[in-house]
Amino acid sequence: GAAAAAAGHGGRERHVLLFPLPYQGHINPMLRLAGVLRARGFAVTVFHTHFNAPDAARHPEHRFVAVPDGMSGARPPPVSVGDVVKHIRALNAACEAAFRDRLAAVLAEYSRDAVACLVADAHLLRMVEVARRLAVPTLVLRTGSAACFASFLAYPLLCDKGYLPSSQLDMPVSELPPYRVRDLMHIGRDGHELMCELLARAVAAVKLSSGLILNTFDALEAPELAKLRRDLAVPVFDIGPLHRFSPAADGSLLHQDRSCLAWLDAQAAESVLYVSFGSLASMGARELVETAWGIAGSGVPFLWVVRPGLVRGRRAAPDEPTRLLLPEGFEAATRRRGVVVAWAPQEEVLRHRAVGGFWTHSGWNSTTESLAEGVPMLCRPSFGDQMGNARYVEHVWKAGFEVGGELERGAVEAAIRRLMAESDGGEMRARARDLKKAAAECTGKAGSSETAIVKMVTHMLSL
Ligand code: UDX
Repeated sequence: GAAAAAAGHGGRERHVLLFPLPYQGHINPMLRLAGVLRARGFAVTVFHTHFNAPDAARHPEHRFVAVPDGMSGARPPPVSVGDVVKHIRALNAACEAAFRDRLAAVLAEYSRDAVACLVADAHLLRMVEVARRLAVPTLVLRTGSAACFASFLAYPLLCDKGYLPSSQLDMPVSELPPYRVRDLMHIGRDGHELMCELLARAVAAVKLSSGLILNTFDALEAPELAKLRRDLAVPVFDIGPLHRFSPAADGSLLHQDRSCLAWLDAQAAESVLYVSFGSLASMGARELVETAWGIAGSGVPFLWVVRPGLVRGRRAAPDEPTRLLLPEGFEAATRRRGVVVAWAPQEEVLRHRAVGGFWTHSGWNSTTESLAEGVPMLCRPSFGDQMGNARYVEHVWKAGFEVGGELERGAVEAAIRRLMAESDGGEMRARARDLKKAAAECTGKAGSSETAIVKMVTHMLSL
């Protein structure tokens, strides 16, 4: 099959080169893809920036090549979404020349036809262009949903039609149901041009490439995938949820506190609420206090990730004890019922039988990891694709609901009880369980994702 083909090409190994965008939510799916490709017989080389460099020592099976980004130490990590967008643009510019040199060196070393292709993150247009100039075929990994990428494609049209920039956030986008204006990627009037540029560049990267890889699966987004296939000239490979194929592809930038797993072992089945807002989303000091007392007041057992940098206005000292961020008296009030950690082994937590709900910022990785384990969600999206993901969770998959507006402890308590203890929460849990089964089918033998992987590998070998 394809595995034999990759390993057996003229008796030599075929190489796939990867270049993730250096953010946690982008590194994880790319390293999981690396695991998939390795299992199919490819040798994998991962290019990476110094900023948020992955830990090569944890992946002896891959080769890592650093691309100087010229910005190490020069800037603090981005804090707002506008900063992230600017940072992505700056990284593209800063890495272009260095990547060309590193890529040329790698090509000289491996010999031309041993390299099957480069897979770059959709936000690394410059790297796709560099590869093209060196005649290296490229595929693009877009780490969000199919629906989200469809919105990138439609963005210029939606702007022409006056949806954006706009203050009418609740207006339905009739071209892309069930999205409302607020569910599209947007950062207000001031950031509008920046956002248009970011999305146009991601679309350009895909159109320049020889294929689009998505971390989604047929049971979740069949109509959206069909639409993308109609609208794009390049093939689309829906090979998710990727963590199901490479569960050991640990790309965590922070140390995962595994002690919480033993605590989970001692909890009743589906009793625990897991709370985490991903690697970038932040909250104000007041929101943190309301969240804390809402969690405490719900009476529900919890595992809460309070990572360094979660609270806006507090310096993101990586070694700052988490408890210093929590309101006074919170620990004493919840000692027997909850655990707070700085960073959790999320995949394992969601897989744990004690976990019955996930309060999430609705990042795409968190969303697919949760659905693949049958865990229903409380959604608190904060930026980027998160609003759109939350919209699908509530209105399409019906496996959770959004907690909107200003956070207030009473509302937090009520939302947690609704998810964990009330009957409609139970219905959402049943829907999540159905999706877990569907995900297992898609990733199982001859399932849609497994088939897409075989097609992707065949495609890579044909380029
Ligand atoms: C970002 C964007 O926010 C997200 O919307 C986009 O889809 C991808 O890029 P992030 O905010 O980090 O990602 O969220 P998410 O996509 O959920 O990824 C977080 C990753 O970190 C997940 O794979 C999760 O398993 C992992 N994680 C999170 C941990 O390992 N431990 C934790 O405690 C929390």
